[in-house]
Amino acid sequence: MFYSDDLIEEVRSRNDIVDVIGSYVKLQRRGSSYFGLCPFHNEKSPSFSVSPAKQMFYCFGCGAGGNVFTFLMEYENFTFPEALKSLADRAGVDLPEVEYSEEAKKQRDLKSAVLEVNKMAATFFYYQLRAPQGAKAMEYLKNRALSDETMRRFGLGYAGPYSDALYRYLKQKGISDALLKESGLMSVNERQGMYDKFWNRVMFPIMDVNGKVIGFGGRVMGDAKPKYLNSPETIIFDKSRNLYGLHIARTSRKKYLLVCEGYMDVISMHQAGFTNAVASLGTALTSQHASLLKRYTDEVILTYDSDEAGVKAALRAIPLLKAAGIATKVLHMDPYKDPDEFIKARGTEAFEERIAQAENSFLFELSVLERSYDMRDPESKTRFHQAAAAKIAGFELELERENYIEAVAAKYHVSFEGLRRMVMNCLMQGVPARTEQPQVRRQAPKEKDDGIRKSQRLILTWLSEYPQLFATISRYIRPEDFSDELYRKVAGMLYGQMEQGELNPAKITSCFTEPEEQRVVAQLFNTELRVESDAEREKAMKETIYKVVEHGIARKTAELDPTDIAGLQKLVDAKRRLQEIRKLHISL
Ligand code: GTP
Ligand code: MN
Repeated sequence: MFYSDDLIEEVRSRNDIVDVIGSYVKLQRRGSSYFGLCPFHNEKSPSFSVSPAKQMFYCFGCGAGGNVFTFLMEYENFTFPEALKSLADRAGVDLPEVEYSEEAKKQRDLKSAVLEVNKMAATFFYYQLRAPQGAKAMEYLKNRALSDETMRRFGLGYAGPYSDALYRYLKQKGISDALLKESGLMSVNERQGMYDKFWNRVMFPIMDVNGKVIGFGGRVMGDAKPKYLNSPETIIFDKSRNLYGLHIARTSRKKYLLVCEGYMDVISMHQAGFTNAVASLGTALTSQHASLLKRYTDEVILTYDSDEAGVKAALRAIPLLKAAGIATKVLHMDPYKDPDEFIKARGTEAFEERIAQAENSFLFELSVLERSYDMRDPESKTRFHQAAAAKIAGFELELERENYIEAVAAKYHVSFEGLRRMVMNCLMQGVPARTEQPQVRRQAPKEKDDGIRKSQRLILTWLSEYPQLFATISRYIRPEDFSDELYRKVAGMLYGQMEQGELNPAKITSCFTEPEEQRVVAQLFNTELRVESDAEREKAMKETIYKVVEHGIARKTAELDPTDIAGLQKLVDAKRRLQEIRKLHISL
């Protein structure tokens, strides 16, 4: 579905955000904004703001935010085209019938052809499993305690011992070699030509959220290697954007989703009644997975394997989920390896109990961190407490920090006041948020940027609120100085608007169709700094500009190729300008 930016902007500008949100949420004017109780989280005092000037909403409590499209996408669970349609209707704008380009049409036809072939293959495998020649595979699955009903629900199948059975079946159905090549079901080599990728394996069809077969996982029925073989990525199969079991889990109507590692884990959990379980497809969880999850839930319980690899996978997943706005807990599986084994050994009720005991992800991270300290040694123990305090200092909200101080103090038997003072010290020193153990998480440098990112967000927020600052700020900070791809894009667009003398943050938000991106954009335009007076604000601005420029220089210095003389000269200039900022006078 493609609509022009102009049309999207027309629909957006004809729907005043205060009117639209006002029909869902009771809003009251406070200063230049409207406030109400946030519809996206539970609260007693209003922290949900709607700005008529920016035409954006933002919740200072939970971080939900965006423009009028985002609101409908989040509130009504609409996709972007649905939100567009609804608001177009509301404002009486006619949406044109969509016209596909020749190329787009071809892509669409190829997609549906590849889907069709995968469906045929799934049917073929399905009947093979239930035919006499499938007896061995059937026995394997029965031995793994799967019921007929479960096998049916997941469409399990069997690829027999010959490596050309599926090929011949599909040829006989009239499928061309060219299409077979696109399907991901065939391997090709010079000697044998084209032959089945999967044979002698039990087959797990992988379905997208709509229940369409997009690929397969095939498991050997013994100890041979590789244990699992998966479809390669194809025009319809993108591993980083699909989750196994989601087509069922999304309708489970549970408050949270269970995220695990394996096909068998999903199937076992569903069979035991936990129909809200999904798995990433033999790869680490990606930020796209997190966005996908966020469409269906605000809470995830990680049920990863209890081994070291599972712990690492959880540590990587937590920040991604957090960034998507998902609260995460971690379920302890020990002494069992994975959910499948746990449920087999201990049953449904015991698993239910473990769900209830699942640990808050922050406390989980902390307990992993604790392992690298010798808690019998007072000095090492103190350093652990300091590390914990630094991590707590990474939370933006005071109340959140207080809650964690309370929880951590109780868990590690330290005094609330003592820990609180440590956290305060970290905040005063501006210790980078979230200091991590380098050996557990390799992305540590990225995470450490939290402080600088906040400064960068402040710059964009101020620009949107005090456009008169543009001349000054743009002299020192360019869009490419921002550290995130998304930040750079937004800054680029904002600068473009400013140069045209047109300020329209809500329009910028429309350029992003994923609610998660819109949320970040909203955050970029709604970052707060508590100050008492304009004088203080001016001082803070100057310092923030300095910090952002300084950070940009540090980043460029690190990336500079030492033989790049022009680059070096630019850096020298940049450093000189940095000194100018000290003398800068900002007046609002
Ligand atoms: P069972 O051993 O049948 O119980 O499967 P499992 O799901 O417990 O397997 P495991 O925990 O070893 O692996 C988790 C997931 O990683 C699997 O479901 C697969 O998606 C993937 N995986 C495991 N082994 C392989 C492999 O050899 N190759 C590939 N490509 N993926 C694998
Ligand atoms: Mn297993």
